Amino acid sequence: MARNKIIQGTKIPQHIAIIMDGNGRWAKKRLMPRSFGHKQGMERMIGLMEHAFDLGVKYITVYALSTENLQRPKEELEGLYNLIRNHFTSYMERVCSKGVRLKAIGDTTLLPPDVQEILRNSEKKTEGNEGKGINIALCYGARAELVRATNIAVERGEKVTEESLAGLLYTGGQPDPELIIRTGKEVRLSNFLLYQSAYSELYFSDKMFPAFTDKDLEKAIVWFSSRTRRFGKTDEQLK
Ligand code: IPE
Ligand code: IPE
Ligand code: MG
Repeated sequence: MARNKIIQGTKIPQHIAIIMDGNGRWAKKRLMPRSFGHKQGMERMIGLMEHAFDLGVKYITVYALSTENLQRPKEELEGLYNLIRNHFTSYMERVCSKGVRLKAIGDTTLLPPDVQEILRNSEKKTEGNEGKGINIALCYGARAELVRATNIAVERGEKVTEESLAGLLYTGGQPDPELIIRTGKEVRLSNFLLYQSAYSELYFSDKMFPAFTDKDLEKAIVWFSSRTRRFGKTDEQLK
């Protein structure tokens, strides 16, 4: 239903990436602990994923924890790991039940071993799925991703090309994100998908992530659809 309404004449991006920022401020405003914001954020993340797939999006990458976020207080990190321990498997089963493949991207070896195990299990259960994917970025940093990819090439004794380097990133084989959404009022990429975002349309929302609704996602997609993507060419050349 919602699908038809928005799809009329709207270009749906194949791959959307979301920087889910503002959980802490959202909770603080409600005099609640940051962990409450993260819980609400996780629920919103699942809702948005389901809606995006309903709209015809094929890949969704969500930034859940950056390499730099590992410097946060231990209690906050433990709270985030507990969310994964308690809810991740059932949430992912729900979203991935319609043929979606899950990948955890980032240096997940930095996570507690039992959390790594949960992620691996979800990845395994969905590895036969093709054509639709979720990348959940955990302990992810784009610079570290590029260094890792470069070192793989060096160890193989290969010179890289733009294509081969892209293939060595965690997102290898997937289309680049056409639309990157950041909630939470900040206007920066915070070390997210630096290579893959070369031609992404960037959409910034003042809303804190737990308050970013399905309608807000549709608004972002409609905005995306109105952009002229020139990839260096002139308007005349595009005709
Ligand atoms: C984003 O929300 C989620 C994570 C980084 C884990 P924040 O936790 O950064 O929320 P703010 O920016 O402090 O409001
Ligand atoms: C970016 O948010 C990382 C995630 C959303 C996971 P941050 O809140 O960590 O970003 P900065 O520190 O404000 O740039
Ligand atoms: Mg933040």
